[in-house]
Amino acid sequence: MKALILVGGFGTRLRPLTLSVPKPLVDFGNKPMILHQIEALKEVGVTEVVLAINYQPEVMLNFLKDFESKLGIKITCSQETEPLGTAGPLALARDKLADGSGEPFFVLNSDVINEYPFTEIIQFHKSHGGEATIMVTKVRSVPTAETPKNLASMHTSAPRIEECCCLMQVDEPSKYGVVVMEEETGKVERFVEKPKGFVGNKINAGIYLLNPSVLDRIELKPTSIEKEVFPRIAADNGLFAMVLPGFWMDIGQPRDYITGLRLYLDSLRKKAPAKLASGTHVLGNVLVHETAVIGEGCLIGPDVAVGPGCVVEAGVRLSRCTVMRGARVKQHACISSSIIGWHSTVGMWARVENMTILGEDVHVCDEVYSNGGVVLPHKEIKSSILKPEIVM
Ligand code: GDD
Ligand code: MG
Repeated sequence: MKALILVGGFGTRLRPLTLSVPKPLVDFGNKPMILHQIEALKEVGVTEVVLAINYQPEVMLNFLKDFESKLGIKITCSQETEPLGTAGPLALARDKLADGSGEPFFVLNSDVINEYPFTEIIQFHKSHGGEATIMVTKVRSVPTAETPKNLASMHTSAPRIEECCCLMQVDEPSKYGVVVMEEETGKVERFVEKPKGFVGNKINAGIYLLNPSVLDRIELKPTSIEKEVFPRIAADNGLFAMVLPGFWMDIGQPRDYITGLRLYLDSLRKKAPAKLASGTHVLGNVLVHETAVIGEGCLIGPDVAVGPGCVVEAGVRLSRCTVMRGARVKQHACISSSIIGWHSTVGMWARVENMTILGEDVHVCDEVYSNGGVVLPHKEIKSSILKPEIVM
């Protein structure tokens, strides 16, 4: 079986991290996002992954070359000379995807994280006999006039996944593709990309299994699979949707990335608890890379990932955050709801919180406070950032 991962787009919403690497190579749960996908594809017998890419292919391929042999999977690139959207890249990679076997192929958005239940998807696809399967995730309920009040309390009481999706929908109803389907059969009646108002409570999860015949519907030009292809397959009664079991999140924006980490770690707790850290210094679900060093008297968690080669010095407090490869957090610093980019340092007694995102190689000086600072790579922060702002 083959798979295509849509890795184009500039990842602007995940800047400053994507100023250093393409979005799919941004670490999530201590490894690049795309590796979660490639490993899961390999597990269900996918033999070749095609990366549909429109910039920096060498960065991606150089990085993935190692994993090709380690994982025993072929990784190739299909490079656009202009961005072809979410469907055009399929036409460009037609020869790789339609290899004459007649087998369906997977298509994935590169920024979605979930349990990748690919075996169930294959079974569902075979059972309905249609042309295309899309995965959807449920949002909780129709937003009402009272929703904002409810939302305020949900923010503070660690919402479950259904509630998270609902939150996102309500905050920005135009953020996702919405699917209206027959409950019993999964047949999709309507697919509406980024609707202005409420259309339904299931959103497109960005994971598809398509028959090669779908390629005949796509021309080699910038095309949106969501706006131009799915609605037509639905009109021909060939589009089916399956509700994704387990968690789901599009982690292409900092706030969703942090929520996604919580959901991912919750899922690890259920499926592979041995991978999580334990000890008196650990609170809730925490992932610490085996090469990271944690000092005395720290309190870490919940919902924290500490990456390879990181040094967390004595007395540090970390919660709901990611500390990426090679970063150093100095004594008694406190980090919450933030992302610390590769090789950055957070100084002694510094306090970093409220969606602070430090790009690669940023240095926050001792005792500095950052309240939602978004800091571009290679900066030194000598004075406090008192309200959310971009530091260039
Ligand atoms: N190769 C290539 N070329 N890839 C592209 C291009 C392009 O021109 N434009 C976007 N992509 C890739 C992105 O890298 C991402 O992996 C995927 O296509 C979807 O693009 P996003 O920019 O992340 O779209 P979105 O998040 O606003 O919406 C999509 O995902 C939602 C779920 O996360 C849609 O598919 C929605 O329907 C869906 O609900
Ligand atoms: Mg996205």
